[in-house]
Amino acid sequence: MRVLSGIQPSGSLHLGNYFGMMKRMVDYQEKNELFCFLVNYHALTSVFDAAFLRRQTFEAACDFLALGLDPAKSVFYVQSDVPEVTELTWLLSNVTGMGLLERSHSYKDKVARGIAAGHGLFSYPVLMAADILLYGGEIVPVGKDQKQHLEITRDIAMRFNHTYGETFVVPEPDIEEDLAAVPGVDGQKMSKSYGNAIEIFADAKTLREKIMGIKTDSTPVNEPKPIEGNILFRLYSLFLDDTGKAELEERFLTPGLRYGDVKKELLATVWEYFAPYRQERERLARDKGYVAGIMQQGADRARQVATVYLERARHNVGLDYWE
Ligand code: ADP
Ligand code: TRP
Repeated sequence: MRVLSGIQPSGSLHLGNYFGMMKRMVDYQEKNELFCFLVNYHALTSVFDAAFLRRQTFEAACDFLALGLDPAKSVFYVQSDVPEVTELTWLLSNVTGMGLLERSHSYKDKVARGIAAGHGLFSYPVLMAADILLYGGEIVPVGKDQKQHLEITRDIAMRFNHTYGETFVVPEPDIEEDLAAVPGVDGQKMSKSYGNAIEIFADAKTLREKIMGIKTDSTPVNEPKPIEGNILFRLYSLFLDDTGKAELEERFLTPGLRYGDVKKELLATVWEYFAPYRQERERLARDKGYVAGIMQQGADRARQVATVYLERARHNVGLDYWE
């Protein structure tokens, strides 16, 4: 199966990204043909600082590599290193109804949060469809927030195939319900842009501040603590197996538990969980040339597949006037 997914280098990667997408991608590479990419063209819809974008793209590459994405097993690249994707976006735009994009929750949410309502932001899902269709992606592991974007991709693929003849694979989303929406420290969806994220490779002090700042309710110490909607419980659970989760639940239901103690435990757990990757992460961050070389090789391999799909699409719409 060809498994494919991307992530925006629009800020530091966090636990939501890790459990919703990154960890699953690393697991997938063992048994599937994996394409993983950093969507810096997409990030341009919200990032207007060139130095910041450059830095975040490089950092995200280091994060993935340190966490075990293996460039020998998978195709790992930066979206803009295969600019063919922008040409495909245009071809797809002409079979994309305005209504389809107008219904996008993501677009409406972003505008409501103050991102300028530009044409790039509006057509974001078409570029995302191009990311997937250009490589014949069959399975797309994402968090729940991307469900509608995947539906839009499917719709565009089917309409293109219907209009011009079989050209693209119609992809399936792969959303794991348990991990689909990791809460941020304030209880909203954890996101790079909401200021509520716990970053994977935050330094010890920042990590401590973030975790100690997780919002908790005011249940007195000598009363059982609620489980439902408990942000601390949900975040801690991400690091536990079923037995661990049952034990944690039992502790929450037993009077006497102090949220502050649980936060300290969670802090130690998060730190230890990522500790084995931290050293490699630091090594990579010092070796820009090596990381850039890996990304370039990934782009070369990605382009080989991209060219096949793009040529087919160009032919099917009739751009090859010389034929
Ligand atoms: P962000 O909202 O932080 O900018 P992205 O939109 O770049 O994150 O998402 C990258 C990937 O991580 C997507 O597959 C997305 O579904 C997943 N993801 C992001 N936030 C979360 C979350 N809080 N819980 C689960 N998955 C998430
Ligand atoms: N829109 C996705 C997000 O914000 C990122 C993305 C861009 C993507 N292109 C993709 C995800 C292709 C999966 C497949 O998370």
